[in-house]
Amino acid sequence: MALAGELQRDTALSKPAARTFKPLDMPELEYTPGLAKEMAPLYEKVKHVVPSIEWPFFAPYIHAINRLKKERDAVILAHNYQTPEIFHGVADIAGDSLQLAKEATKVDASVIVQCGVHFMAETSKLLNPQKTVLIPDVRAGCSLADSITGADVRLLRQKYPGVPIITYVNTSAEVKAESDICCTSSNALKIVESFGVDRVLCIPDEYLAQNIANQTKVKVIAWKGHCEVHERFTPEELRQYRKDDPNIVIIAHPECPPAVVAEADFSGSTSGMIDWVKKNKPARVVMVTECSMSDNVAVENPDVEFVRPCNLCPHMKRISLKNILDSLVYMREEVMVDPAIAGRARLAVERMINLKN
Ligand code: 13P
Ligand code: SF4
Repeated sequence: MALAGELQRDTALSKPAARTFKPLDMPELEYTPGLAKEMAPLYEKVKHVVPSIEWPFFAPYIHAINRLKKERDAVILAHNYQTPEIFHGVADIAGDSLQLAKEATKVDASVIVQCGVHFMAETSKLLNPQKTVLIPDVRAGCSLADSITGADVRLLRQKYPGVPIITYVNTSAEVKAESDICCTSSNALKIVESFGVDRVLCIPDEYLAQNIANQTKVKVIAWKGHCEVHERFTPEELRQYRKDDPNIVIIAHPECPPAVVAEADFSGSTSGMIDWVKKNKPARVVMVTECSMSDNVAVENPDVEFVRPCNLCPHMKRISLKNILDSLVYMREEVMVDPAIAGRARLAVERMINLKN
């Protein structure tokens, strides 16, 4: 369902950024006294979440990455789940999926290094067809993105003719191309209600769809995809936190099962959770989400005590300082989107970004 004006730009998407790059010399990665001095202000900032024994290993990488970024005219986009040495050390722009997608449309640099998972890099490529988009480890996937294919969405369209199809950004470009619009956890309710109809499909995250359904009169038809990190949290676990400390504040990501969200004091996207902590300054908080995020937020909120249930996303954790540096030296792995689907996938993302309140 492309709109007339939207289609005209599709052709640009079929022209990939076909450039060849020479590898740069691999920088020296020695932790010298001079480097230690230069990097001391950054270490002062992250010392509560980066052990001193690890800093001599991280510092030379951070220094080298920040230098090569300039040489390559590159910008680093990092998701809130990246580890603190990446999040605070080398990221130019950090945020949740929606913020990263929006920022990707404003990037001036000719190269984008996406520190996150593959669907995020694909989204950046969709929005920047002429730029080179790199992901440091191409295997950084997502259980939600893996739960559904374009063919599945075509079958759903046949089964529910005329019902709008909203796909979570945590999907492949192929799936986005089959949908009417994308959403993220921070705008899903607004998008569900934007159609003004009595039912929509919101796929593939079953729990996100159910959590949204609990806040609206619109009937939300779901798919059976789950986030392998958030599905592990249980309501019993959250009740135990409250039993141990009745004053504890619990905030949860909407990819958690509805019974978990029901036990929380607040639920929102990763950046929604961060903003909530900054604004409310709870004495003790448990962030029911991927556990690197608590480290990242703790750096800027030294007065808040974070209880950290450590569920790690194995895909996010594939990104490291070492492979970010390799990415800049060797310009790998370049993310491309099949031109046959790129135009339609981009429309779905742009409709989301452009949707007014
Ligand atoms: P956010 O959009 O809230 O950052 O979520 C992305 C994600 O993958 C959470 O698991
Ligand atoms: Fe995907 Fe879950 Fe990892 Fe987010 S945390 S990238 S939804 S597997």
